[in-house]
Amino acid sequence: MDTEHGIHDADNLEAARGPGWLYDETRPCGVNYNNALLARHYDSHHQSFRDYRKEAEDIVARLDVGPSATVIDMGCGTGAFALHAAGHYRTVHAVDVSPAMLRRAQRKADKMGLKNIEFHRGGFLTYEHRAEPADAISTVFALHHLPDFWKLVALRRLAWMLRPNGRLFLFDVVFSFDIGEYEQSIERFIGKTREQMGENGRDESETHVREEYSTCDWIMEGLLEKAGFSIQTADYRDGFLASHLCMKRGQ
Ligand SMILES: C[S@@+](CC[C@H](N)C(=O)[O-])C[C@H]1O[C@@H](n2cnc3c(N)ncnc32)[C@H](O)[C@@H]1O
Repeated sequence: MDTEHGIHDADNLEAARGPGWLYDETRPCGVNYNNALLARHYDSHHQSFRDYRKEAEDIVARLDVGPSATVIDMGCGTGAFALHAAGHYRTVHAVDVSPAMLRRAQRKADKMGLKNIEFHRGGFLTYEHRAEPADAISTVFALHHLPDFWKLVALRRLAWMLRPNGRLFLFDVVFSFDIGEYEQSIERFIGKTREQMGENGRDESETHVREEYSTCDWIMEGLLEKAGFSIQTADYRDGFLASHLCMKRGQ
């Protein structure tokens, strides 16, 4: 436990980094979310083109689990979903590999007087869920930090954390454009983020395409199925954004 900030971390990461072949998810790829300055400005930056409340309300409606639910927000960042979710569910486990992002989220939760969020420093590959099986998991703009094989491992681990028929909501940058037009499509994506977020947005989206691990729609669907989920809805937007609502298949 990081006692200063009330964040659980002794049971993962350094303590359980695992075998030498395990992908090191603590090492940033692309945008460096371990950077305290970036974490400080994350919300003002993202809220210039996102409506956290609307997004969170939409996720709550789609997960459709009741107020007694235990919910995990994987890659919670500064708490865009987790803080809102705390008003809807009994317990929220907010998990992220970045101490800087978690600290921002924790500080915001303290200010809001939220008592039912547990913060965990960990990630898709290292977080050990020791509480009761979750009713639902949400993960937004985070899975693309892992290469495809590790996405599959990550999704299997999420399935293990869920109760039978538990729900997964996955939102991420996923490529669904026509591969014959990939150059124009990527330019369009970068142009759009520049319009929304200025020059920073352009740098970020260029870095995203060059260094991060967004995958194709058909690969993402295969990964979800292989990991033990049935896909209930798959929505693709603008060739770049995707949301998948899934249910853990019964055993
Ligand atoms: C673009 S932010 C999204 C944060 C938040 N979900 C949101 O909607 O604003 C990506 C987050 O994923 C986290 N992240 C990166 N790799 C991760 C991993 N392997 N496991 C969990 N979180 C990870 C980063 O630290 C960062 O906080």
